[in-house]
Amino acid sequence: LWTPSNIIDDSIARIREQVGGDKVLLGLSGGVDSSVVAALLHRAIGDQLTCVFVDNGLLRLGEGDQVMRTFANHMGVKVIRVDAEERFLGRLKGVSDPEQKRKIIGNTFIEVFDDEASRIEDVKWLAQGTIYPDVIESAGAKTGKAKVIKSHHNVGGLPEEMNLSLVEPLRELFKDEVRKIGVELGLPSEMVYRHPFPGPGLGVRILGEVEKDYAETLRQADHIFIEELRAADLYDQVSQAFAVFLPVRSVGVVGDNRLYAHVIALRAVETIDFMTARWAHLPYDFLERVCLRIVNEVNGVSRVVYDITGKPPGTIEWE
Ligand code: XMP
Repeated sequence: LWTPSNIIDDSIARIREQVGGDKVLLGLSGGVDSSVVAALLHRAIGDQLTCVFVDNGLLRLGEGDQVMRTFANHMGVKVIRVDAEERFLGRLKGVSDPEQKRKIIGNTFIEVFDDEASRIEDVKWLAQGTIYPDVIESAGAKTGKAKVIKSHHNVGGLPEEMNLSLVEPLRELFKDEVRKIGVELGLPSEMVYRHPFPGPGLGVRILGEVEKDYAETLRQADHIFIEELRAADLYDQVSQAFAVFLPVRSVGVVGDNRLYAHVIALRAVETIDFMTARWAHLPYDFLERVCLRIVNEVNGVSRVVYDITGKPPGTIEWE
């Protein structure tokens, strides 16, 4: 019989049998899959698990603190938080090509993760949040992009001499099953039912070259959008919603002055499989409220636009 608690009991037994008394390492991103793996492994093997959470400076507002609160403070999971913002932003300096940015972010992640991993002694296992769709689509060209980080680890992102074996307790599960298990394990439903967030994070939502203050601006605008979606009970009705930073200047009026400042685009889509998507027909008064808040509360933004492009012909992300 499939119930979340049966699956959990079963997985725990299998994990214990597989890893015995060995130490396990996990890259915790704060996304659904790695979060559920962290909670599951913690329940199965407690302190034998060490998580590494890399803050690349391209996360959403308060995301790092939230991950630490949930896992380290509330659940007592061992989490090493690595503040790598400068390293990531330094590598991205002067780079504006989207695929180049993705590569740099992916490679820098592996470097930072490896550095941390090599400091932990006697680790035998690397845990991953691979789920069933990742397994069956592992060779897919399009999904390959989304799985860059996972697959890098698979093909030996870690130093050869560490010789880690993989633990992948979600390998046979679909996303909705993973979510149910997450709730059962006590993860906040806000975390478990979060919209997907790309591995390169805000790095591909700041068009062109990434600047630290652009990321700051985008984080604030994005936070307002998401906060208002939740307040209006619209968050769960859309599949993915976010703000995009456009590095062009548009005129606005502040008092008696004309001010040239940047543009924020809002994107919200409804989709089942993320292969095709419809732009979400959010209410005009809602969009107006979000726009007013962003222009009034976020420095350096003079204009807000709403993206009404479907997929196809558009993609969900802007880069
Ligand atoms: P697109 O923009 O291709 O997005 O229509 C489809 C889904 O994939 C996500 N996405 C990514 N996820 N790394 C990821 O982990 C990436 O480089 C990446 N690019 C797009 C996107 O957020 C959407 O959910």
